[in-house]
Amino acid sequence: MTRTRLASDWHPASWQSFDATQQPNYPDAAALERTVADLSALPPLVTSWEVENLRELLASAQRGEAFLLQGGDCAESFDECTSPNIVQKLKILLQMSVVMLAGLKKPVIRVGRMGGQYAKPRSADTETRDGVTLASYRGDLVNRNAFTDADRVPDPALLLRGYERAGLTVNFIRSLIDGGFADLHHPENWDLDFVRSSPMADQYHALIGQVADALGFLESMTGRAIHHARRVDFYTSHEGLHLPYEQAQTRFLEHRQRWFNLTTHFPWIGMRTAELDGGHVEYFRGISNPVAVKVGAGMSDEWLQGLINVLNPDNEPGRLTLITRFGAGNVAEHLPRVIQAVRSTGSRVLWVCDPMHGNTETTADGFKTRRFEQILSELRQASAIHKDMGSYLGGVHLELTGEDVTECVGGARGLTEADLARAYKTQVDPRLNYEQAMEIAMLIGGGL
Ligand code: PEP
Ligand code: CO
Repeated sequence: MTRTRLASDWHPASWQSFDATQQPNYPDAAALERTVADLSALPPLVTSWEVENLRELLASAQRGEAFLLQGGDCAESFDECTSPNIVQKLKILLQMSVVMLAGLKKPVIRVGRMGGQYAKPRSADTETRDGVTLASYRGDLVNRNAFTDADRVPDPALLLRGYERAGLTVNFIRSLIDGGFADLHHPENWDLDFVRSSPMADQYHALIGQVADALGFLESMTGRAIHHARRVDFYTSHEGLHLPYEQAQTRFLEHRQRWFNLTTHFPWIGMRTAELDGGHVEYFRGISNPVAVKVGAGMSDEWLQGLINVLNPDNEPGRLTLITRFGAGNVAEHLPRVIQAVRSTGSRVLWVCDPMHGNTETTADGFKTRRFEQILSELRQASAIHKDMGSYLGGVHLELTGEDVTECVGGARGLTEADLARAYKTQVDPRLNYEQAMEIAMLIGGGL
């Protein structure tokens, strides 16, 4: 039975009377409460104007007029909150977006898994090594990865450290963009070192050249510089997993008469916390941000329809995005079913494909990896199924990095399992490296 939920019963902490899964067990509840109070008093990381702009852009993607590129690390870490890391992630996302824009001939909405992607769901609450059992590592927002008792105890102070790192990240991104870093007239700003040695360098520079020529053509036709091209928009997103953190920065804005989560523009509900009767769905229903839900093979039609009903009862444009992640072997069976299930509600959603999380495997050497062909296969199948059914695949959700890591196998350079040990850096899921991510972007731009 689903609990009846009245709009008037919602408040930022109403999730606390529901079962919320994947929450840490803090030994000192009073300390957590004090931290949440401290966090609530700090200024927001994003504004409702930006959030509303993004919602309008997502509504245009729902109508088939734009495409969403959402990507970044599986988990950000506090140690990696550095200038080169942030710049590289921004560069790869900007490069990918231009390649996609050149091919798709529609605006690309850029959203980073950045500025708050610090909490992770885990399959078990504890981890045992050599007979010692400790709490699982749940991301830098909660505890520390080292395997000692002190490191694994959830520490509320890390919520403040996470908020600060998210603030530093968002501030740096804003400064780069406002300073002209994302100016479409100067894509050479985003060249990464390995572009020069990449087998795809020529294709990339040819595409960038086309965009520059098109801009030049328009500017000479109109006799004016296209100012909009000097400043592209960039938005942040993270999994809204740690509910006390999300609650703390949830504000009622008098001028809009609505509640907003102001830690991020676009939070999503993960696959493991999307229970209809759960605390996460309760929290998300009351905020006005555009929100996304991950949809996997285990989600029944009724469950999905229930989520639509609770999360978007008024069928607001841009409000709800469904990120499907079935795996290359399951997408053909499940995607048509869920498209049909959503269609029968009459509700509009933005369909996005996450070709990463259904395609994770472990090699004989114990590396968690993903195969480029499987990732591409899921994307291709999803795109074809949407087309066949008269639906629109309006975006892609990727785990990627601007670095030259070796975490996923395959791609233009043909990385093999034996290559994985060379630069395997992720603490959680395997990410596409720079070249693999660019290759996906080029394939998307080319219509796959
Ligand atoms: C993730 O996006 O990192 C994740 C855990 O995904 P999912 O909820 O789809 O498993
Ligand atoms: Co992940």
